[in-house]
Amino acid sequence: MWTKACIFDLDGVIVDTAKYHFLAWKRLADELGIEFTERDNERLKGVSRMASLEIILELGNKHLPIGEKEELASVKNRWYVEYISKMTPEEILPGTLDFINVLKHNKIKIALGSASKNTPMILDRVGMKELFEAVADGNIVHKAKPDPEVFLKAAEMLGTDPAKCVVFEDAAAGVEAALRAGMACVGIGRKEVLGAAHTVVSGLNEMNLEKLIILEKQLGYE
Ligand code: G6P
Ligand code: MG
Repeated sequence: MWTKACIFDLDGVIVDTAKYHFLAWKRLADELGIEFTERDNERLKGVSRMASLEIILELGNKHLPIGEKEELASVKNRWYVEYISKMTPEEILPGTLDFINVLKHNKIKIALGSASKNTPMILDRVGMKELFEAVADGNIVHKAKPDPEVFLKAAEMLGTDPAKCVVFEDAAAGVEAALRAGMACVGIGRKEVLGAAHTVVSGLNEMNLEKLIILEKQLGYE
């Protein structure tokens, strides 16, 4: 195989944590008297915690000093952690484990690349901690997607040439980050949102080795 490593985003690719982020942000928005819908929540995918708060405050036309914003972000995170601490392996999205096992069987390295500072807790709760050879998350990476830092860091941790990595991403900002890292990118979700990716599938249950080989050919890597 030309591909040497696959790097997975966490939220929305491996687990559906968007619903827990929504519950926690909604609770905060309600307390602040700001109207916040599931549609608004779409804008927060792949966006860092503080940038997410900024978007919500903007929806309510509220301007707060940085100290208060930090306090609100940590209140939201406490609620979010309450929800994710109850996650179970059943919440791993369909097809994820099968696909990862096929990759491992074919000597392709596996890494995680996520902005979330809660990555270690989520991987632990769903029992996937041991599966990844490298984890680049919000605790070690500081530039938010679309900056390529998170994926470049994952490649560096694996000792793999970025050009031989394939990223799996559900957020437009993440797709841009992968492309800026010089990596191949499979969008997970809808074409209308992830059109910049080299190919788009609806979920990891739609991925297999054959599709990866087709992608390699499409990119001229053989
Ligand atoms: C991911 C999610 C975002 C979330 C960000 C930070 O990128 O898609 O919705 O805001 O991680 O997560 P954290 O768990 O650190 O608040
Ligand atoms: Mg995501």
